Amino acid sequence: MARILITAALPYVNGIKHLGNLVGHMLPADVYARFQRSRRNEVLCICATDEHGTPTELAAAEAGKDVETFCAEMHAAQAEIGERFGLSWDHFGRTSAVQNHELTQHLADQLDENGYIEARSIEQIYSIDDDRFLPDRYIVGTCPHCGYENARGDQCENCTRVLDPTDLLEPRSAISGSTNLEVRKSDHLYLRQSALAERLRDWVNQHADWPPVVSGIANKWLDEGLLDRGITRDIKWGISVTHETDKGTKWPEFEGKVFYVWFDAPIGYISATKEWADLDPDNRDWKSWWYGEAADSVKYVQFMGKDNVPFHTIGFPATILGSGEPWKLVDYIKGFNYLNYYGGQFSTSQKRGVFMDQALELLPADYWRYYLMANAPESSDSSFTWDHFASVVNSDLADVLGNFVNRVLKFTASRFDGAVPEGGEWTDLEVALASDLDQRITEYVRCLEEMEFRKAVTQLRAIWARGNEYLTVAAPWTKFKEDPKAAALGVGIGINLIHLYAHMSWPIIPATAETLHSSVGQGRPDGTLPWPKAEMREFLTFIKPGTALDVPEPLFRKLTDEDIELWSERFGGEAT
Ligand code: 2FM
Ligand code: ZN
Repeated sequence: MARILITAALPYVNGIKHLGNLVGHMLPADVYARFQRSRRNEVLCICATDEHGTPTELAAAEAGKDVETFCAEMHAAQAEIGERFGLSWDHFGRTSAVQNHELTQHLADQLDENGYIEARSIEQIYSIDDDRFLPDRYIVGTCPHCGYENARGDQCENCTRVLDPTDLLEPRSAISGSTNLEVRKSDHLYLRQSALAERLRDWVNQHADWPPVVSGIANKWLDEGLLDRGITRDIKWGISVTHETDKGTKWPEFEGKVFYVWFDAPIGYISATKEWADLDPDNRDWKSWWYGEAADSVKYVQFMGKDNVPFHTIGFPATILGSGEPWKLVDYIKGFNYLNYYGGQFSTSQKRGVFMDQALELLPADYWRYYLMANAPESSDSSFTWDHFASVVNSDLADVLGNFVNRVLKFTASRFDGAVPEGGEWTDLEVALASDLDQRITEYVRCLEEMEFRKAVTQLRAIWARGNEYLTVAAPWTKFKEDPKAAALGVGIGINLIHLYAHMSWPIIPATAETLHSSVGQGRPDGTLPWPKAEMREFLTFIKPGTALDVPEPLFRKLTDEDIELWSERFGGEAT
């Protein structure tokens, strides 16, 4: 049994996430975790809200709440909406947790001890009208690299470059819009990434298997020459730089300053694991996932959008390597491009696109889960349109899967008293079906193993379609009168296919999978639908004659032109 540690980039606590965030890290992490659990591997899947820094202070101010209350409420809201989307985290933690404060301060101490931290007096932008420094997102302006006019002081959303506030052209305050700004000196700690460049390059080079979007960004950074990065900020909300240690007060001259959110956020992966263990310390060992020899056998996979790649291929590993302690480094980074919404990015700050809570007002989670994974922005950006969404839902979910299930179960109910009939001997048809399914499933497993999600969904759909093809030829409905045994065989296979679909579909559309599973009398044994170990023949005869069936409501409804029109209007897309 392999041990697999999975983390999804931590969503900012500043608001409910949009479908671009969902498909860019949280959902694929969940699909992969479910897949690995169903393979009976030991999985630990961790996420958390990323709570510090300017994004949070700005959002709390906008909501008119104090930051702590705001974070607690939004954390709870995100946890709840994640659960409704079926995101099966082992733990959904918080970077504001005490575990993260302690570990962040500890790692900063380690870095300092090893000579990787340097205090510098630097020029910062100060807003005279706001009477404060304007780090990171407190300042907006034009990106000097791509000309995007709404670039933030920490990063350009458009071209993903990481920026310093002083890089921006035509800067203005994000709080007041004021351009009455001046440059003032302030002391800050810098992480000496430049001194770790060679070790980082060696490490990146050892991972030639990462997706091009990940290796490309990592190498671009390394090739341009690593800059040392400021890891502290002149803001209030965050992890205090000044702290107590065994040896006395550390960095007392930094009283009132906090660590940069991107310094403590990835450390949150580890500390959220500790939060998980602290809830049940007798049975959970967080260190064996993260530290020393015990963690050597762990395979660690991270999921994230491309804008996060620099922080995970440079910043966070620099912290780990520089600490001199044997913390686990990531083995595989599954990076995603962007999902676009009508020609622009989904955007939290600009409220463009569909947000997770809104999506669930329209349709249950599985519609979205399926569509998003089928359309995941893996090798390039992809786009969401209402027409495309409706056509995928209608053809794949409603027609291919939904109709099949409905037809088989209804026919069994009306002709065989709602129980699995005793069928005749297998013919060439069934033998061919079993062998085709075997091949398809092998390929499906390979795709999921390699996290090629679009291809995986294509295989899943083909598995469903192969069942339809079989049923069309076996035609139990027409054979019912003249050859009841043959009809019963076809129906029995159909029922077993529903069972097979339940197991295969579980990582992607778990709620539907559970409905399928219980409709063929199997219930839901232990919170997973484990991957069949059986030979295909065994699996296609697993549901025995006499088993009573349940006919569920139609699994998926067809989306209509009116739906598309209504939703396009509401969310600002164009119906074509
Ligand atoms: O881009 C984002 O949404 C960040 N909150 C991701 C943080 S990932 C991790 F390092 F915490
Ligand atoms: Zn740019």
